Amino acid sequence: MLHKRWFPERIDGDLVTLRRHARENLAEFLRWYQDPEVARLTRYQDGPMRPEEIERFFLMRAVGPETLAMGIHIKGSDRLIGSCAFSQLDGDNGSALFHITIGEHDAWGKGYGSDATRLMVDHAFGSLGLHRVALAVFAFNERAIRAYQRVGFVVEGRSREAILRDGKWWDELHMSILEPEWRTARWQAKATADGRALGSAGPNDDAAAGHLKGG
Ligand SMILES: CC(C)(COP(=O)(O)OP(=O)(O)OC[C@H]1O[C@@H](n2cnc3c(N)ncnc32)[C@H](O)[C@@H]1OP(=O)(O)O)[C@@H](O)C(=O)NCCC(=O)NCCS
Repeated sequence: MLHKRWFPERIDGDLVTLRRHARENLAEFLRWYQDPEVARLTRYQDGPMRPEEIERFFLMRAVGPETLAMGIHIKGSDRLIGSCAFSQLDGDNGSALFHITIGEHDAWGKGYGSDATRLMVDHAFGSLGLHRVALAVFAFNERAIRAYQRVGFVVEGRSREAILRDGKWWDELHMSILEPEWRTARWQAKATADGRALGSAGPNDDAAAGHLKGG
C-alpha cells in the first residue's frame, strides 16, 4: 500500500501546484513560522517558534525523500505561498494527520488552501491507499474550518477549552474524512459533471452529499 517515495515531484490542482520542497524554501519557512499571526492560528504555545526550531522542523518534516510534505505554489506564477503535510502516518490502520500553513497573508481566502487540501486528500485516498485523514483545528480559526468543510472534512469531536487564546478559552476541533465519503463525493461530482441528477445517488450517499459543497 505505502511505498518509500510518498509523493511525485508535483501535483497540479485548479489553483495551486504542490511541489516537493527544495532546500532553499527554508528562507520562506523562517519568515512564515516567525509570523505572530501564523503562530496564533496554529500553535498551542504563545508566540512563534525560534529560528533554530524552525530550521529543525524544516529539515525533519519538509525535505528528504521520506517526508510527507509538499510546498504550495500558485499555479502559473509558481510563487511559493505555504506548505502542507501528513504526519503520524499509520500504515496498519491506513490513517494520517493533515497539516497546512499558507504563510503569505495576501494569499489567504482565495481558494488556495481548499485546493491544496483537496489535492492532498485525493493523493491520500487515490494514491497512498489510506482510509482516514484527520486534523485538529482551533475553534476560532473559522477560515480553516470552512476550507476543510469545503473539501469534505466533518467535525468528529472536540477537546473542550483546550486552548487559551486572546484571553478566552477555545475548543480544539477534531475533523476527519474517510475514504468511502471521498469516493462517494467523487462519484457525485462526476455524475453532476456528466449531467446526471444528484438524486440518482444511492441512499448511503446522503451523508457525503450533505456536507460537500459543489464538485
Ligand atoms: C487555513 C488556510 C489553509 C485556509 O486556506 P485559504 O486559502 O485561506 O482558504 P480558502 O480560500 O480555500 O477557503 C476559506 C473559506 O473560508 C471563508 N473565509 C475566508 N476568510 C474567512 C474569515 N476571516 N472567517 C471565516 N471564514 C472565512 C472563505 O469564504 C472560504 O469559504 P467558502 O469557500 O465557503 O467561500 C490558510 O488560511 C492558512 O494557512 N492560514 C494560516 C495558518 C492556518 O490557520 N493553518 C491551519 C491550522 S489548522
